[in-house]
Amino acid sequence: MTHDAVRLDSVTRRYGSLTALDGVSLSFPAGSFTAVMGPSGSGKSTLLQCAAGLDRPTSGSVAVGGTELTGLGERRLTLLRRERVGFVFQAFNLLPSLTAEQNVALPLRLAGRRVPTALVRQALAQVGLADRARHRPAQLSGGQQQRVALARALITRPDVLFGDEPTGALDTRTGREVLGLLRGMVDREGQTVVMVTHDPVAAAYADRVIFLVDGRVSGELTGADADSIATRMTRLEAAPC
Ligand SMILES: Nc1ncnc2c1ncn2[C@@H]1O[C@H](COP(=O)(O)OP(=O)(O)OP(=O)(O)O)[C@@H](O)[C@H]1O
Ligand SMILES: [Mg+2]
Repeated sequence: MTHDAVRLDSVTRRYGSLTALDGVSLSFPAGSFTAVMGPSGSGKSTLLQCAAGLDRPTSGSVAVGGTELTGLGERRLTLLRRERVGFVFQAFNLLPSLTAEQNVALPLRLAGRRVPTALVRQALAQVGLADRARHRPAQLSGGQQQRVALARALITRPDVLFGDEPTGALDTRTGREVLGLLRGMVDREGQTVVMVTHDPVAAAYADRVIFLVDGRVSGELTGADADSIATRMTRLEAAPC
């Protein structure tokens, strides 16, 4: 039986009088690859932040790997984020003074754990960067930096990897390489991935695409190709508010 890596139940997030997320219920089965799309301001980043325990919903509940985040104190929430959740952003957010392998090892070090060199090397090899371990971010291309960020996000073997436009800063070809890596991690390792993207071609790498409009789920597509995803997006963006 498959279980849910992440589950959101009636999640609402308000900022003052603005409702960024409006009663969203979603589940992300373990080993699935989901893309989240929607117009700018529709709540995609807010959804990811709430699902990852980086932000707290105003109401509703979130569970990661069967653990309810609601009611967890800051310390336990930080631990859960560190050990069970991986996050990659459009900006790679690597520490410039650290080498690739030091950046990858950072989450384990922060958790006070020993970091076997072999584990770090294996994580870098998984993203095709075995020969770049000693390079600093400035000595790596954008795609290579994002792959270091991926290796760093995956070193703790998180229940779920979230990406907020992880290919947004990459050129088309490099972006496709990173998407191929994500797809491979889902297929080979059973990694759960949830990724926000504006690009229908990127979304077509996922098993399922969820569409958000005004903080609500407006529908989803399963196993869709880039053309049908693009058609749905165009319809959403044309819809009156
Ligand atoms: N910290 C915040 N304080 C106040 N309002 C916020 C905050 N974060 C997000 N919002 C508002 O919540 C709404 C949803 O924002 P969010 O960043 O989730 O959108 P998005 O779908 O990720 O957009 P984009 O595609 O432009 O990244 C927007 O109206 C935004 O202005
Ligand atoms: Mg966003």
